[in-house]
Amino acid sequence: MKKLFIKTYGCQMNVYDSDRMSDALAASGYEATTEINDADLVVLNTCHIREKAAEKVYSELGRLRILRKSQEAKGKKMMIGIAGCVAQAEGEEIMRRAPVVDLVFGPQSYHKLPELVGRAANEKVVETDFPAEDKFEHLPKAKRETTIARGLTSFLTVQEGCDKFCSFCVVPYTRGAEVSRPIAQVVAEAQNLVDGGVKEITLLGQNVNAYHGLDEMGNSKGLADLIYRLADIKGLDRLRYTTSHPRDMDDALIEAHRDLDMLMPYLHLPVQAGSDKILKSMNRQHTAKEYMDLIDRIRTARPDLALSGDFIVGFPGETEEDFEATMQLVKDVHYAAAYSFKYSTRPGTPGAEMDEQVPEDVKYERLQRLQELLNAQQKEFNQSCVGQTFPVLFEKKGRDEGQIVGRSPYLQPVQVDADLSLIGTIQQVSMHDTGKFSLFGKIVT
Ligand code: 5AD
Ligand code: SF4
Repeated sequence: MKKLFIKTYGCQMNVYDSDRMSDALAASGYEATTEINDADLVVLNTCHIREKAAEKVYSELGRLRILRKSQEAKGKKMMIGIAGCVAQAEGEEIMRRAPVVDLVFGPQSYHKLPELVGRAANEKVVETDFPAEDKFEHLPKAKRETTIARGLTSFLTVQEGCDKFCSFCVVPYTRGAEVSRPIAQVVAEAQNLVDGGVKEITLLGQNVNAYHGLDEMGNSKGLADLIYRLADIKGLDRLRYTTSHPRDMDDALIEAHRDLDMLMPYLHLPVQAGSDKILKSMNRQHTAKEYMDLIDRIRTARPDLALSGDFIVGFPGETEEDFEATMQLVKDVHYAAAYSFKYSTRPGTPGAEMDEQVPEDVKYERLQRLQELLNAQQKEFNQSCVGQTFPVLFEKKGRDEGQIVGRSPYLQPVQVDADLSLIGTIQQVSMHDTGKFSLFGKIVT
């Protein structure tokens, strides 16, 4: 067996993709390793979303160049491949900047990996086309023992790419146009995961609630329909989905949150900014009020639903007043968790061409203020859980002897003193304390 080491950067879809690459290469005799020094093939699965994310790849390649030299001195060969969104966006440029790289391949080529790796043994290979065939049709399914080893929760990509063209974002260029997988294909993959012991699946898409896959009759179906189909799989206990766009939050999906207990009451619904002027220039295609009205409708349907979001500060043209509108929106929503970033200019996106770029120190200062508010809200949310009882899916041993750890419906880690035999089960847990990010509880069933 040859050894494969994959380092994953960026979003959850990259985590999913790394597993699929691993499955694809298993067929050509590669076994995954967590020890880079043993690897015959090292793949960096990269992210291009912000400049910092992309630069990380080049610093890692600097380290790999040194590792490869020392491996060569020992007579050991090590192939280096770059996958993911930097590969898609920069292609050959990567080889120019880092000649140590043997193989560059974009997210739409993962099913061709065995062939690409074979070619890369003799020549430099760059593969960044968007092939016409459905890569998902060609990617092998995970073996039962591999799924078992990966744990009780899993990601499952149902939709990829984006047609929204927010003016800050590289995704439409790196992941391409929006494509939804057919319902039957998704159900089969979910069933395979459940057969391997998976209890909770998170459906993934850059714009997951824009899902519009074909059913067995050839009719286009939305995310709510897909969720109802998956909810019928015996042995699957929980469903989540991410990331959603406010414009695609339709009535059927909101009703699914009202009617379906296995759909977790936790929604990642990025708004990015609170000023209508900035939302417009970001091409988000909704106003702050429309977002707030949507939140009201969702909360009416499912009062215990918690929200998380993404924010960008310092988008071109953002004044102090625009930023204050973001702060006000956050105060009005009360997020359970959130991710916030300084705007990063991405080559080829409309935002990069806009006048009035915001100075770095202003971005920094606004990010500090926003994060202070978001952190306080997260703390407040965690504290509000104390005294409540939730179902917790126990996933693994805790840090201390006699402790097991699971996740609440709101994705908080929950630590409990209990027997290891409860791992893999869902128990009602009453919460009695909070740590920095986690909750402490006691099983009440
Ligand atoms: N600069 C900063 N943040 C960005 N994001 C996307 N593009 C950029 C950019 N150019 C953030 C958005 C998105 C999250 C995945 O990353 O908030 O929702
Ligand atoms: Fe990064 Fe976006 Fe690519 Fe995910 S899809 S790896 S977030 S650039």
